[in-house]
Amino acid sequence: MKLLVLGGTVFLSRAVAALGVARGHDVTVAARGESGKPPEGARFVRIDRNELESLAALRAASFEAVVDVARLPRQVGDALDALATDAGHWTFVSSCSAYADQSIPGQTADTAPLLEPTASDSADLAVELYGRSKVACENLVRERAGDRAFIVRAGLVVGPGDPNDRFGYWPARIAEGGEILAPGAPEDLVQFVDVRDLAAWIVDAAETGVTGTYDAVCPPMSRQAFLTEIARAVGTRPTFTWVRGKFLLEQGVSPWAGEESLGLWLPLPEYSGFLTRDPTASLEAGLRCRPLGETARDWLAARDEPPALLASLSREKEAAVLAAWRDRS
Ligand SMILES: NC(=O)c1ccc[n+]([C@@H]2O[C@H](COP(=O)([O-])OP(=O)(O)OC[C@H]3O[C@@H](n4cnc5c(N)ncnc54)[C@H](OP(=O)(O)O)[C@@H]3O)[C@@H](O)[C@H]2O)c1
Repeated sequence: MKLLVLGGTVFLSRAVAALGVARGHDVTVAARGESGKPPEGARFVRIDRNELESLAALRAASFEAVVDVARLPRQVGDALDALATDAGHWTFVSSCSAYADQSIPGQTADTAPLLEPTASDSADLAVELYGRSKVACENLVRERAGDRAFIVRAGLVVGPGDPNDRFGYWPARIAEGGEILAPGAPEDLVQFVDVRDLAAWIVDAAETGVTGTYDAVCPPMSRQAFLTEIARAVGTRPTFTWVRGKFLLEQGVSPWAGEESLGLWLPLPEYSGFLTRDPTASLEAGLRCRPLGETARDWLAARDEPPALLASLSREKEAAVLAAWRDRS
């Protein structure tokens, strides 16, 4: 199969390209070449999607399958105009941030309402427009690739090479052992997808012609199961001290990402739907989820040394919050 990955030099899109090569496909990756290197065995075409004419280099090649991870409707529309007529299968990687209401647990891709799309020619990179931009991109893909479109709304994508660390803090911290601050309640749910499982689903779908719109997330698991399974995988026996979410916010711990943050933790009930989506349809359409322990071990093995986590709680802050929790009146 002649496979084009628009992107292909970092994390998910690179994993898709690398798997395509490993399966013997003729893989082209197209990017500016600023974010990373293409996988070995893939042909690299330098393009800048902010310049329409740069897609001309790809138009003549006639790809059987195209994978796009962009977030700007203008770029997605231009790529569809240039390449969709010839493509037999078109994957677009969207996001669960496309959903309008993140507070309802157990939502499904076919019924959950979406945010209002941005303009279909928007090139606005504002962070707060991310979800709306993805909705506009999805609409373009559905309009122009029709029944060849495979749209996957990714939840948190984790695993080796993850540039964001929202998952990685947990294996890194649990590997150190001792008393560990666990946010919220043991029964709270967490949800994510290993980058290699999502990449495999995307390549499988291109090979076998799976189409439609799905959430790219594995079944949710309790936070207690999440923490203990990682501990088992990395071979430590830490003590988890559960600290209420409201208290963490009062202590200046940031949810999800950033400085002094805890990844995979969000305020409830506002975000009760964000890590609890129902992936039944995705599993039926071929998504396979590897054991969490494997993701945790492989993330640890692949991380940069010395670790510089982008989302994490310092040991000092963790100790201070645990002390304040014990001293609370
Ligand atoms: N990580 C998560 O947890 C998460 C969650 C939900 C959804 N998602 C979605 O999952 C996908 C992740 O994709 P990814 O891991 O491959 O990362 P990404 O950061 O979305 O990849 C961007 C790719 O596009 C290329 N690119 C960027 N600007 C370009 C331009 N102007 N012209 C040409 N190429 C350009 C980049 O290479 P150059 O910079 O070298 O050009 C890179 O290869 C995205 O669609 C994201 O929205 C991720």
